[in-house]
Amino acid sequence: MVGIIKLISPTFVDIFEPNIEIGQFPDGDSHVRIPQISEVSGQDVVIFHRLYPKQNNGIVVLLLILDAVKLENPKSITLVVPYLPYSRQDKKKLNGEVQSAYALCNLLRRAGCDKLITFDCHFLNAEGQAEFGGLKIENISMGAELVKRAKQHFGNEDFEVVAPDAGATYLVKSQGGKAFKKVRQEYKDEKIGYREIESLECNFEVKDKNFLVLDDMISTGNTMIRALEILKLAGAKTVCAASTHGLFLFNCADRLKKFTNCIISTDSIENEFAMVSIKDRLIDL
Ligand code: R5P
Repeated sequence: MVGIIKLISPTFVDIFEPNIEIGQFPDGDSHVRIPQISEVSGQDVVIFHRLYPKQNNGIVVLLLILDAVKLENPKSITLVVPYLPYSRQDKKKLNGEVQSAYALCNLLRRAGCDKLITFDCHFLNAEGQAEFGGLKIENISMGAELVKRAKQHFGNEDFEVVAPDAGATYLVKSQGGKAFKKVRQEYKDEKIGYREIESLECNFEVKDKNFLVLDDMISTGNTMIRALEILKLAGAKTVCAASTHGLFLFNCADRLKKFTNCIISTDSIENEFAMVSIKDRLIDL
């Protein structure tokens, strides 16, 4: 009889009880043990594994898990990776540049993954089923949950929900679909891997209104900080920042706090602003 076997890595310990053991050899190699491995043959297997932080290490561990599971001939393998690293490099800008988002999806598919379940995946710009790098992906959006949490902050006050760039427009579609227009610079030689923001503009009414700026992720925080700053300079009453994935690099939370005391994130990545949980969206898998 076919059943569902859930394999949970210790990276998910805050949400589910782990049943995969991950340790380390003295030289830094990863040691992986799946005590239930003999049960996966012929079954639908769902693997829960976070890939951030320490994404490069996490990917190797995941490939080891996938290979071990695949060798047992399961009926299917579904992966749950809440935040997909490398998702921002979905386009090639330079000659010879690796399109890492595509490469990672392709690697996972070839390693045996039949379907990836992830959250507000940067390169998808829409909720639902998709395919990228030959990999079937289900993209779950946390937009509605983040807006709901922001309502608690604003209380009886009205607020507008806006995206800081076109890519995040789908997150605010049901709230009017307003978005800033963002243009990034080209890569600088000495800083490959990051393109500074050239300009960020809004063409909607701001004065005396409350705003929730909603994005798929706060990484360096530069996008969110610039958006909040523009809104405040244009006379916004109060502003709130929310994102599905909270990386909060380079202490950007401290810079965000200069504009707002409302910073909301999910627990797709562990962070101090994770007030909304992805757990309810995973429980029925
Ligand atoms: C961009 O295209 C995304 O939607 C986010 O706005 C962006 O990735 C956030 O990055 P950062 O926090 O570094 O500005």
